[in-house]
Amino acid sequence: MMVYVDSRTRDIANMPRGGPDASWLDRRLQTNRLEYLDRDDVDDLKRKVMDSLDRAGRRRRIGIHEKCARMALHEVAEVPRPKILELGAGLGGLSRKLLEKHSTAEVTITDIEPAFVAGMAAGDLGRHPRATVRAMDATEIDAPEGYYDLAIFALSLHHLPPELAVRVFAAGTRAAKKLLIVDLPRPPAPLHMVLLGVVLPLVTISPLQHDGFISSLRAYSPSALRELGRHADPSINVEFRTRRGLGPTVAVASRGQYQTSGS
Ligand SMILES: C[S@@+](CC[C@H](N)C(=O)[O-])C[C@H]1O[C@@H](n2cnc3c(N)ncnc32)[C@H](O)[C@@H]1O
Repeated sequence: MMVYVDSRTRDIANMPRGGPDASWLDRRLQTNRLEYLDRDDVDDLKRKVMDSLDRAGRRRRIGIHEKCARMALHEVAEVPRPKILELGAGLGGLSRKLLEKHSTAEVTITDIEPAFVAGMAAGDLGRHPRATVRAMDATEIDAPEGYYDLAIFALSLHHLPPELAVRVFAAGTRAAKKLLIVDLPRPPAPLHMVLLGVVLPLVTISPLQHDGFISSLRAYSPSALRELGRHADPSINVEFRTRRGLGPTVAVASRGQYQTSGS
């Protein structure tokens, strides 16, 4: 049987994580290897990674949940009662912060992993009057067009290969006026190599470092994120809220009709 593969899909599937203009070295610093979090045969390790990630997220000095919540609320500062969708929420630490920090925001908290969704639904988030917990695939968001003021996908996009990441841009900017992507940085290749060398000895000892090492190799560069958005729809604009460095990459994608100058 002949299978028709759209040439745009094929091209994007082969795009390096460093983007179409990635250097020779950058193209070698990537992998298709799965993290424990992506596997269905290692529930115990998966849980360990998620617990460590959530602990780090809640820590006062690292506090990625707090940082993400501030960035998310900044994007909806003008909306009195914002509707926010969290995709790939894991254990829900970011959504919990959003609900704490904003007294009227309505937050839909989702993940593709049934065990994480069940855990959130059974806890405080499941009982919160302004929260809805449910399973959702970030590549197939079932909500009317523009229903959410903001969708946020934190520390998760790198889990998806380019052909699925494109779908997150398409679905996220359709269901929400803005799609906020926060993810691991992709440092310039020589520095990236040094950093990977530092972490390598730890990957067999720590499940979190194992997944962190692979995540780093799968992180998308700013030019790759721009290309993913363009491929999803040429009307999608991707803006960066941070400069390229060692901190997280923070990008906001939106479609023409929702773009506001200086947002
Ligand atoms: C590294 S965790 C980050 C969790 C959380 N956002 C945080 O910052 O703690 C990645 C999450 O993405 C979820 N995920 C992976 N693929 C997904 C998809 N297609 N749709 C929704 N969630 C997905 C995983 O189940 C996991 O919970």
